[in-house]
Amino acid sequence: MTLQIRREGPGDVASVRAVHRAAFARQGADPIEVALVDALRVDAGWMPHFSLVAAADGQLVGHVVATRASVDGVPALGVGPLGVLPAFQGRGLGTALMYALIGAALARDETLVGLLGEPAFYGRFGFVAATELGIRAAHPEWGRYFQVLALTGSAPSGTFRYAGPIESL
Ligand SMILES: CC(C)(COP(=O)(O)OP(=O)(O)OC[C@H]1O[C@@H](n2cnc3c(N)ncnc32)[C@H](O)[C@@H]1OP(=O)(O)O)[C@@H](O)C(=O)NCCC(=O)NCCS
Repeated sequence: MTLQIRREGPGDVASVRAVHRAAFARQGADPIEVALVDALRVDAGWMPHFSLVAAADGQLVGHVVATRASVDGVPALGVGPLGVLPAFQGRGLGTALMYALIGAALARDETLVGLLGEPAFYGRFGFVAATELGIRAAHPEWGRYFQVLALTGSAPSGTFRYAGPIESL
């Protein structure tokens, strides 16, 4: 299998929807992540350089996106959703997408990345419970599932707010 990680292109929108529809299918035939990516794409927080796809032998099989978030008004990144087609899970694609996203964030001098997810998966990238770095989620009930990765020694602390479409879920 050849694997390419690249920025989402104009022709990828339908395939990105298909990835999340299949990846999150356990939530039903029309998982919220599909509409969420569409809403983010037209939101002020959308940054095209942080919407990355994984192509296996030319087929789009994975997608991750980060959008503009903030911590007490200081710019940060909010990751999500991340999805890989079920038939391609467990082959390192989700890991490759996350490392590519973190690399892109480092290259652009981003200071902090936040996400809501499974600590057993995201811990491998260095994400820790947000509270460990003095960061509160706008939704305290997210508990230890809300995690952050500081990319510089001067990462902000305070209350994390996602881009509008995620914040209002
Ligand atoms: C989560 C997801 C993106 C991971 O992508 P992937 O390509 O399967 O992941 P990789 O092959 O790079 O890594 C596999 C590792 O992640 C672990 N992993 C995958 N999903 C996990 C989860 N939900 N919780 C904990 N660990 C998980 C696997 O156990 C495996 O661990 P190992 O390396 O110790 O064996 C993918 O499984 C997926 O799309 N799941 C459905 C949608 C989803 O839950 N998205 C994430 C929302 S937080």
